[in-house]
This record gives sequence, C-alpha cells and structure tokens, in this order.
Amino acid sequence: MNNIKEINLIPYVDKIGKRFNEYKNSLDKEITKLEQLIYKFNPNLEYKEQRKVIENIFKMQNKINSLKLQLEEIKQEIQLAEKTEEEIEKENKQRQITFNGMTAREWALHSRNVWNDVSSPRKDYHKEHGAVFPLKLAERLIKMYSREGDLIFDPFSGIGTTIKAALEMNRNGIGIELNPKFYELTKQILLDPKETPIIDLCTFTEENNGFIIQKNNVDDLLSLGTTSPNNNYIKLFNDDCRNLTNYLEADSVQALITSPPYADFIRKSIEDREKVHKNSLIKFNNNSTVKPYSNSDLDLGNLPYDEFLEALFPIMEDTYKVIKPGGYAIWVVKDYKDKENFSSYLDFHTDIANIGKKVGFLYHDLIIWDQNEQRSLVLLGYPSKFHTNQNCSFLVVLRKPTIDEMKQIRKDKERN
Ligand SMILES: C[S@@+](CC[C@H](N)C(=O)[O-])C[C@H]1O[C@@H](n2cnc3c(N)ncnc32)[C@H](O)[C@@H]1O
Repeated sequence: MNNIKEINLIPYVDKIGKRFNEYKNSLDKEITKLEQLIYKFNPNLEYKEQRKVIENIFKMQNKINSLKLQLEEIKQEIQLAEKTEEEIEKENKQRQITFNGMTAREWALHSRNVWNDVSSPRKDYHKEHGAVFPLKLAERLIKMYSREGDLIFDPFSGIGTTIKAALEMNRNGIGIELNPKFYELTKQILLDPKETPIIDLCTFTEENNGFIIQKNNVDDLLSLGTTSPNNNYIKLFNDDCRNLTNYLEADSVQALITSPPYADFIRKSIEDREKVHKNSLIKFNNNSTVKPYSNSDLDLGNLPYDEFLEALFPIMEDTYKVIKPGGYAIWVVKDYKDKENFSSYLDFHTDIANIGKKVGFLYHDLIIWDQNEQRSLVLLGYPSKFHTNQNCSFLVVLRKPTIDEMKQIRKDKERN
C-alpha cells in the first residue's frame, strides 16, 4: 500500500464516492420500507394480513440482497485504486498484447458463459420503448470484444444503449434506428448531462437523417494507464438498417452488438398474456412493459417468423461486409414458444447462428443471460403439459474469419 502513487487515486476517489452514494440511497430506501413493514406486523392481525406482511418482507429482503452487487463493484474500484506502480506496469504490458486491451485477470473474470448479474435500473424512458437491454450488458460486451478507438455498430439501435456505452468507453459507435420516436428519444438521453455526463465534453451536430456526437480533444483522466483516443465519436441514423452499407465502410467494424426485433413475437406474446396468463392459477403479476415498436411496413417486428428470417438474411450479408476480418457480431435474442402450434418451440438463437454461418461467419460462442431474478413465473400448460418459463436470453457470438482463416476455408472448400 505504501508505494501507491497518490496521483493514481484521483480519478477513483470521485468515482468511488459517486457509486457509494448511489448504493447508500438505494439501501436507505429499501431499509425504510423494510422497517415500515416490520412495524406493521402484529400478532393480533388476521392470518391473511400477517401472511401479506411476511411476503412483502421477503420481497424487500431479496431486493436488499441484490444491492450486494453494487457493493461488490465498489470493492473492485478500491482494489483497482490500490494497485502498486509495478502492478500497473505489468498490467499495461498485458493490455498491449491483447486485442481487447484486457489483462489476463480481466479476461478470465469475463469468461463465464452464464450471466445472472446483468440488470440496470429501469427508468421511465425505458418504458417508452419496452424492449431495451441493460447498459451493463452493452458495456460488458464492448469490453470483451473491442478496445479503445474501435468502431462498434448497432443496426437496431432502439434508444441507443449500445452507442451510449461506446461513447462512454472511448469507442466510436454507429447506430441505425427506423422509428423516429426512438431516434428522438436517443438524442434526448444522450444530450441530457444527468443521463450522459460525458456530453459536457462533446460537440453535437445534426444534419439530414442523422446526428454525430464527438468528444472534444481533452485529456480523459478516467482512462489513466491506457492509451486513450480521446476524441471518439458516435453517430445515429434514422433509417432502415437494410441501407447500412450507405453508412459504413467495408471491413470497418470491430464489434456489432445488437438485439433485433424478435419477428412478431411481441404482438403474439401480448395476445398470449391476455389469454393464457390471465387464466393462470398463479396471480397475473408479470410486470413486462413490451409493446409493438410501430405499425411501419419496414419494421421487422411486424413480420411473421419465416418472413422475418428471410428479411434478415441480406442484412446479415451486409453486416459481414462491414465487419473487419477477425471482428465480432453479437446478437442478443430470445427463443419463443408458439402456443398455437404443436411444434411449439422456436429456436430463434439457432436460426440466427445458422444464417450467420450461411453468410460466412464462424459460430464463435454462445452466452446465456439468465433473467430469472428479474421475471415472475407464470403457470404454463398446467395441468396436462409441463412447460418452463422463457426466462433467459441468448447472446449468439459470431466472428468473421481472419484473412488467414479465410484462405484456409477456401482451400478446404476447393479440396472437397
Ligand atoms: C429490441 S429493439 C432494440 C433495443 C436496443 N437494444 C436498446 O437497448 O435500446 C429493436 C429495435 O429495432 C428497430 N427496428 C425495427 N425494424 C427496423 C429496421 N428495418 N431498421 C432499423 N431498425 C429497426 C425497432 O424500432 C426497435 O427499436
């Protein structure tokens, strides 16, 4: 601890303070609620009332447990701050040799293939969209599959979660979003310093159907110890992503990170919820806020599954063109149970992987994002057929072969 360079602590003190305040506020809120509930409990209450109080206390207790994660993150920041100069030097050497700038330890820590620790606080603007993924998910994927200065691309940008994370992590980002409402909402979020503090260090320009946010050329204190390209930019275009080659150069993207519309599953699941879940013996308490994105014919969320897969094929071909050799494409999707058909399980993640393989990608990895803690269970198929709830998403990781791999693949094909 003695030979820690004091200057290294400066960016951390502020960051740790902010994070601790967030943790303290959340904890204060939950503890106040818990105390109120505990005082409500009284042996003279009716049985039903007693039971309700206990159930609520149980829920509060779970919420408090989930705050442990925030504390864990603060602990990690402290460990980071307390590194000695030798440790920092050793890590910097490791960062230079890895394609994503990770140390060996970070690499190992990120290599779990089932994630159950990814959720972000839900804000009101999330409800306006209904199907956004957490900022933490985008941040983790960006960290794993790119390094500072690389280009990140999201063809189905929604409210801009991926490009926001790219801006904040010293990457360049390009997003495309069809719906003007979500394009405007993205702009609003990015231009609000409370939501995007880094905006104070950026310049905003808008023309035709898009905008660009470029970081001014300032020293970014938070990226100490790394080589920071500190005037990175993000762009968002309000367009159909079938036009993506108008906005991106060939072989330019290091990582595509996206969650496409899931065909017309949203429309179907809303119908399902009304029919199936309402009659469920277990109380209907699904707090999902999903709703169809739009009525536009260009919206892939309005297509039946088969037509959707057909439409996705040329998009996937174009993404292959713009991704760098050796670059990645991560598709966040969910499988679906079609309750009207007998062959009811739609293996969406496998279909995505197969389209990817057909256009030339390698099926590189599969990560399971466990969302059980964030969803309530409904009773499905009871009492005749046992069905599980769909409480996980799949992160299908595709990789464009490197030039050497392409040569080898070509040779193998010629031989066969
Ligand atoms: C699952 S959401 C993406 C949410 C995003 N990951 C986020 O966190 O905000 C899919 C998005 O694709 C958009 N979309 C649908 N069809 C499109 C198309 N043809 N081109 C571009 N975007 C499209 C929808 O409007 C919707 O916002």
